[in-house]
Amino acid sequence: MAVLTPTQDTIAEAAGHLKAGGLVVMPTETVYGLAADATSDRAVASIYELKQRPSFNPLIIHVASLAMAERCGMMDTRARYLARRLWPGPLTLVVAQRPGAGISRLATAGLGTVALRMPEHPVALALIQALDRPVAAPSANRSGRISPTTAQIAAEGLGRSVAYVLDGGACRIGVESTVVDLSTDPACLLRPGAVTRDQLSAAIGELAEPGETIRSPGQLASHYAPGLPLRLDPTEMREGEALLTFGSNASLEGAAAVLNLSPRGSLTEAAANLFACLHALDRPDLYTGIAAVRVPNTGLGIAINDRLQRAAAPRSS
Ligand code: TXA
Ligand code: MG
Repeated sequence: MAVLTPTQDTIAEAAGHLKAGGLVVMPTETVYGLAADATSDRAVASIYELKQRPSFNPLIIHVASLAMAERCGMMDTRARYLARRLWPGPLTLVVAQRPGAGISRLATAGLGTVALRMPEHPVALALIQALDRPVAAPSANRSGRISPTTAQIAAEGLGRSVAYVLDGGACRIGVESTVVDLSTDPACLLRPGAVTRDQLSAAIGELAEPGETIRSPGQLASHYAPGLPLRLDPTEMREGEALLTFGSNASLEGAAAVLNLSPRGSLTEAAANLFACLHALDRPDLYTGIAAVRVPNTGLGIAINDRLQRAAAPRSS
């Protein structure tokens, strides 16, 4: 495995590796992705294998232009409007698949829909352009674990099995993209992220609440979990527990370790630090568990609290 500084040459080499059916860890503005040629069943299958991801959980298809998105999915008026205003950026649009688009059925889990996103990262965009095909990329972590926000954490978590890791530095945003389902009317917010519900409803009108059925496995209660048990809203610390806190009200007595997502109380900074802090505290050799405080539930805070709540949910396996 090689952790590479992105240059024209290493990006071209990584694109060649993708073309041959290989996997590449690529930086995006949200979290690192484990990229494969979305048109290759074999390449997409190796994503599921490496991540140990249930194959009913579909992947986001990354594009480098609106034109490429149009070739993959049926972009209706709402989809085009959102894409023009908010792409490239941390927003994934679920739309009906375009027949004959050539996307691996494995990548879409056989659903009639496809999740499309244009990432706001020069390295990701250059890689997709160099491949000149849509790129399937889930977060570059094993299934159910927290998403990596640095190349080092991604490489550590996936082991030696990925030949190319493009190091684009720490991810600017730090939580996964907002996922909105446009295959229904009204549209439905499937996963909160840096593009907020308010921004979406200002653009395309009120959104529906997600229904009873789980349409996006990102909604599975336990997801994004560290190995250690995590609980929310501690009022006192338990023996050996580490504390993940926020803002100036900060610490509790008796914490075995304390990390602050943003001592100055910035939600942007907290989102960017969230997964790296969870990763740093996920040390069964040092701590018995993690206690985390919730952040103010506005803007990016909604996405942060969503991920904390999932990390704290009872584990399904
Ligand atoms: O920020 C991100 O979105 C990152 C970076 C790498 O782009 N990717 C990411 O991918 O978080 P992943 O696979 O970890 O999460 C994809 C989410 C899952 O919750 C999945 O269920 C949902 O998108 N999804 C994918 N295709 C879908 C579809 N056709 N319908 C509904 N949900 C879908
Ligand atoms: Mg993920």
